[in-house]
Order: sequence, then structure tokens, then C-alpha cells
Amino acid sequence: MSRERPELAVWMVGALGDIATTVVTGAGAISRGLATERGLVTALPEFQGLDLAPLDRIVTGGHDVRDASPVECARLLAREAQLFPESFVEATREDLEAHGKRIRPGVAFGCGTVVSSLEGGAARARRAAGPRAALAVLRADLRAFREETGVERLVLVHIASTEPKPPELEELATEEGARSLVERGDARVPASVLYALAACDERVPYVNFTPCLGSAAPGLQEAFLRAGVCHMGRDGKTGETLLRSALAPLFLSRNLSVLSWAGFNILGNRDGQVLEEPRANAAKTTGKERVLTSILGDNLGSALTRIDYVPSIGDWKTAWDHVHFEGFLGMRGTLQLTWRAADSSLAAPLVLDLVRLADLASRRGKKGLLPGLACFFKDPTGVEEHALSRQFDSLLSFARELR
Ligand SMILES: NC(=O)c1ccc[n+]([C@@H]2O[C@H](COP(=O)([O-])OP(=O)(O)OC[C@H]3O[C@@H](n4cnc5c(N)ncnc54)[C@H](O)[C@@H]3O)[C@@H](O)[C@H]2O)c1
Repeated sequence: MSRERPELAVWMVGALGDIATTVVTGAGAISRGLATERGLVTALPEFQGLDLAPLDRIVTGGHDVRDASPVECARLLAREAQLFPESFVEATREDLEAHGKRIRPGVAFGCGTVVSSLEGGAARARRAAGPRAALAVLRADLRAFREETGVERLVLVHIASTEPKPPELEELATEEGARSLVERGDARVPASVLYALAACDERVPYVNFTPCLGSAAPGLQEAFLRAGVCHMGRDGKTGETLLRSALAPLFLSRNLSVLSWAGFNILGNRDGQVLEEPRANAAKTTGKERVLTSILGDNLGSALTRIDYVPSIGDWKTAWDHVHFEGFLGMRGTLQLTWRAADSSLAAPLVLDLVRLADLASRRGKKGLLPGLACFFKDPTGVEEHALSRQFDSLLSFARELR
């Protein structure tokens, strides 16, 4: 994305991760005519004619706690995970290098032991200065990004490692409480909340693609609304949960009762390694299960969701779901399904969709939560509707509003 006249600057928290790397390589490859827009929801006919930022007018940068080269990250994804041809890395080298030059050290409060073990020296120093200083420096990075790129329109997307479920902090119930936690340097405030506050305070639309708390606490929602900034999260719906939200309504509409729904996921990338930590794992499985309990209600006997780390399969997440159901005269049947796909290739186009839509929503004066984007998330903040087709209808009406 060597953009001569960039329109939109995208700040990725987790800028060296697999999703971020696939976003930069993917947008660069599409811009050069090497790949199509397959996989992007905003490339569907229903979104044509919307004033969305073209992919070749997007520039990127971001925060990460590791030190690495985006070109090397992309090469690994091409060679080892085989997410795209290796020739794409050379073709988009300019974009990957420009992205690398705009990566600043992130902060890792409450991110768990795996992330701490990845932290580079500069990130560690920022953490040592405490949350209050961290918020100031994150905000300064966003301002510098705006200045360096000369682009007025920014969106921040959180795609960093999943944080362990944070402790209950009642202060996060109000904006005043949340700010007092940061002011007094309480290191229990998770990093994702600091990034969300930085976006809010710099008037940057914010998207949380992870299960991390981010902008979801009531105090943060209040802050975004008061600042007149739009935001939405959490946790991208890309694989097994996408299937669940499409299939669970089927049982309801045929009056079949679901006796049990069990799902087993294995993955081998860094995300999988981070999810080995029990509290990070719990943060992820909670959202996956909420989709079922919310759609099926009393019509669900029991649910089980597991995620395990199997290094050899890398990014190629595999999920098996076993649904045991009961129908007419007590007939008991099963539905079993297998899903295998490269996680980052599912996620990256949705990240591009979300930043384009959040940017347009912001230009159309939207403030606070963006419920119209619920179909992109496992646990959409402020939205009770989980059935995919109804969520998609609401995305289409949102797109009509943005026209
Ligand atoms: N791939 C999918 O389909 C999918 C779907 C939904 C949600 N997610 C979530 O998206 C996130 C990213 O996934 P990924 O596969 O790219 O993971 P990844 O491990 O490849 O990348 C995460 C990056 O975040 C960095 N990081 C960790 N803590 C940070 C912090 N506090 N500040 C700045 N950087 C930090 C890490 O160093 C790493 O480079 C994960 O939380 C994952 O659960 C992924």
C-alpha cells in the first residue's frame, strides 16, 4: 500500500501478528491486481456505490510488543502456513516495509505470561512507566501517525493477542471511574482498555476484533458516546461460531430440541499458544458459547466448547461440532460437521470491511456503538441478536443508512 494519495490510515494493535500481516499483504496484493476481493463482505453487490475507502488508498501502522520484521512475518505465513503465494511478499514488500517503519512499542498490562515472554525491551520500558504514562504515549503515537501520513481519517483496530479475563473492576462501570483507575496508575487496567481510551481521546473510530475487554465496559461506552466517537466489538466471528450462528436457528425453526452441542477446536499458531493460558481460553470460549445459549435459550440442553493448541497445524484451525437433537416422537439425531480453514485468511478481509465501514460511519456522524456491524462479531457489544441471517439484514440496513 504505497499510497500516493492515502485516504484512510489504519492503526493496528497487534501490528506484527498473523492477521495484521495478512491485512497488509492482502490489501497490497489486491491493489496490484494480483488477487481478487473474494472474502470481503464490502465487495458484495449490496455495498457497491458506498463511499468506502478504496483498498489502494489505505496506509497502515500500529503497536506491537514484539520486535520483528513484517516482511519476515509475511514470508513465514507464505512458506509455512501457505496462506498466499510467496511471490506476494516480494510484490508487497514496499507496503510491508512502510508498515514496519510505522510500528511503535505497545504496552502489555494484564496480557498474561505468553505475551510477557514475547515483549521486547522498548515495550517493557513503556509498561514499567505505568498505565497513566502509557495512555499518554499511545495517544502521542496516534497523533504522530496522523502527522506522518498526512491523513486526517484514522481507524484503530485491536487485533492483539487475547488477554486473560480481567478481574472485575467496578470502577469501569463509569467513565469517571475508568479514568480514575488510569490516573492513579492501577496496573490491573488491561492494555486493551488503554488502547480504547487512547482512540477515544484522539477521536479515532475503534474496532475490537478480539475477546479482550477494549471498549465494552459501560464506562468506556460512556466515554465514546460523550466524545462523539464510534466503536464496536468484540471478537471476530470467522469460523466455528459463524457456523453456529447460521445453524442454531435451523433447530428452532423446525421445533427440534438440541440436547447437547459440543465443539472441539484445535489450532497451532501464536493465537493458539496464547489460548493455552486457562484465563485467556475462558475469555474465548465464553463468547463462542454465548451464541448458542442466546439463540437456543431453553431449547439447549448442554453446551461444551474446547480450544486446544496443536503446534503442527499452524494457522489451519480445525473445528468439529457434534449436535445431538431430538424431534418427533422422541427421535434422536445428530449433526456432525468439520470446518478447516486458515484463520488469518478468514479474519483479514473482515478487518478490512470493519475499518472501511467504521470510517464511513464516522464520516456520517455516527457516535457510540455501531450495532449494525454485529454480524462480524461473536459477542457484539450491546446486541442480543446472534442469528447470522438477521444480523446480516441489519448490516444491509446499516449500509443503506450510510448511503
Ligand atoms: N484469526 C481469527 O480468525 C480470529 C478470529 C477472532 C478473533 N481473533 C483474535 O485476533 C487476535 C489476533 O490474532 P492473530 O492470529 O493475528 O494472533 P497473533 O498472535 O499472530 O498476533 C497477535 C499480535 O499481538 C501482539 N500483542 C500481544 N499483546 C499486545 C499488546 N498488549 N499490545 C500490542 N501488541 C500486542 C503480539 O506480539 C502479536 O504480534 C487474537 O486475539 C485472536 O484471538 C482471531
